[in-house]
Amino acid sequence: MSYWVWDSALEIGIDVIDGQHRRIVDYINDLHEAHSNHDHDQVTQILMGLVDYTVTHFAFEEDLMTQAGYPLSDSHKKVHESFIAHIKNYKKEHEKGRDIARKLMSELQIWLTNHIKNEDRHYVPYANEVLGRKKSWLKKALGGFFGSGK
Ligand SMILES: [Fe+2]
Ligand SMILES: [Fe+2]
Repeated sequence: MSYWVWDSALEIGIDVIDGQHRRIVDYINDLHEAHSNHDHDQVTQILMGLVDYTVTHFAFEEDLMTQAGYPLSDSHKKVHESFIAHIKNYKKEHEKGRDIARKLMSELQIWLTNHIKNEDRHYVPYANEVLGRKKSWLKKALGGFFGSGK
């Protein structure tokens, strides 16, 4: 069974962002599975993917907030930065051979739930406005950040 079952209460109503958040939840479930199997190499791979994907998601979100003229984008960006520093630290600890997976998963779940439900949800009206106005931005941004358009 999954560690973290996606809950519709986490949806902010912007499909592209909801999809990215779901992907992060998938990474956490993959991490749980690899950790349960005591597969150190797999945990390493997943942590690398999780950090990379989260960095890309944050960059995408920050670009969207900037395009939308969201007034709190600077403070939102700072929250992202400190979170990335935090998970990179966990990745380093793992590379030193420490078993951090359980603690990381539990922190990620709490942090992401709070962040999505509060800070992310707050930019939605601004983002919807820009997404309605500049439909071409979304396609271009997805290609730029995620390459495959996913
Ligand atoms: Fe965010
Ligand atoms: Fe987000």
